Amino acid sequence: MNRILNQLQPYPFEKLRALLAEVRPPADKRPIALSIGEPKHPSPDFVAEALAANLDQMAVYPTTLGLPALREAIVAWCERRFGVPSGWLDAARHVLPVNGTREALFAFTQAVVQRDADGLVVSPNPFYQIYEGAALLAGATPHYLPCLAEKGFNPDFDAVPTDVWRRTQILFLCSPGNPTGALIPLDVLRTLIALADEYDFVIAADECYSELYFDEDAPPPGLLSACAQLGRRDFKRCVVFHSLSKRSNLPGLRSGFVAGDAEILKAFLLYRTYHGCAMPVQTQLASVAAWNDEAHVRANRTLYREKFAAVLDILDGVLDVQRPDGGFYLWAKTPGDDTAFARDLFAREHVTLVPGSYLSREVDGVNPGAGRVRMALVAPLAECVEAAERIKAFVRA
Ligand SMILES: Cc1ncc(COP(=O)(O)O)c(C=O)c1O
Repeated sequence: MNRILNQLQPYPFEKLRALLAEVRPPADKRPIALSIGEPKHPSPDFVAEALAANLDQMAVYPTTLGLPALREAIVAWCERRFGVPSGWLDAARHVLPVNGTREALFAFTQAVVQRDADGLVVSPNPFYQIYEGAALLAGATPHYLPCLAEKGFNPDFDAVPTDVWRRTQILFLCSPGNPTGALIPLDVLRTLIALADEYDFVIAADECYSELYFDEDAPPPGLLSACAQLGRRDFKRCVVFHSLSKRSNLPGLRSGFVAGDAEILKAFLLYRTYHGCAMPVQTQLASVAAWNDEAHVRANRTLYREKFAAVLDILDGVLDVQRPDGGFYLWAKTPGDDTAFARDLFAREHVTLVPGSYLSREVDGVNPGAGRVRMALVAPLAECVEAAERIKAFVRA
């Protein structure tokens, strides 16, 4: 067996199951899960219809590169959404369909990491656990940058030593972040691109929450916006990861894309051809329909906006918690230990959330997720409101 598998950490939900295994929640209160980040709003009908209308495509092998129609729809979306000038992104070279960002983040790391003993894969801390497992299985060492409240829950990139940048092969960004909801500002993205050039590393920007934001007139920028601003039309060393899972409530469709540096994507395409992860044609055609429509995405944001407003209203003065820049999580400070908070809340109120320390690693004696919990506002409004009321009662008690 591959011995590196032993280095993989249990997934946060496994730890949570163990924490709650012996606890008996009150049977008269129905369970409410704020733990899992699975979108629960209805999937758009027109996407289901496009999928059903193309089921005959099951009879053909899809190509890893994907259909021109899908790659063109993705390019058009990137141009509209991130202000990339027309003609910069070439559908033939700058985009690839992926079966959701999870597999893409993992596979990308395998394709990019050079197996030298010194190599680092740098990520925020707390973070989406795939970055870490992908780095380990690619033979690199994960390096964690703490995301603390005093720095707006973003890594303090200025504090990263030169030696770390010199050894960095991939820098993972997550914006808006899971679990913090923090957005990496454009000027920081521009600085990071300069660092990537200076130290020759790849920026892998996980932007799968980019379409969940609050101000319809101010969609958050991404790494492509920074490239557009800089006139960086080759997107050198920059790759973004996007998904229909959160944007369009299609986590089961398994559809997303990567876009950016054509040279890197060429190598990634070669890797993917061997890996065997072509997107089924019917999924591609359904995805074209989804990327071409924004009305359902706006409606989705409205639902989240209502939930954040209602829940934050209830938790005001109860917990130290702020509205995030984007995404669907609240990253709340707990009065005491986060695991005890999660366990006791479950025991008294039958509400599940994730202890922050399960989503981050302790470095030099500090776990940046300790003393916080992650709440996913994915359930319907009424259920989120009830959960918030129960949390309030729990904290007040
Ligand atoms: C930060 C982050 N990246 C990537 C993913 C993977 O999403 P998908 O594979 O559905 O695109 C998730 C899912 O929860 C996530 O939270």
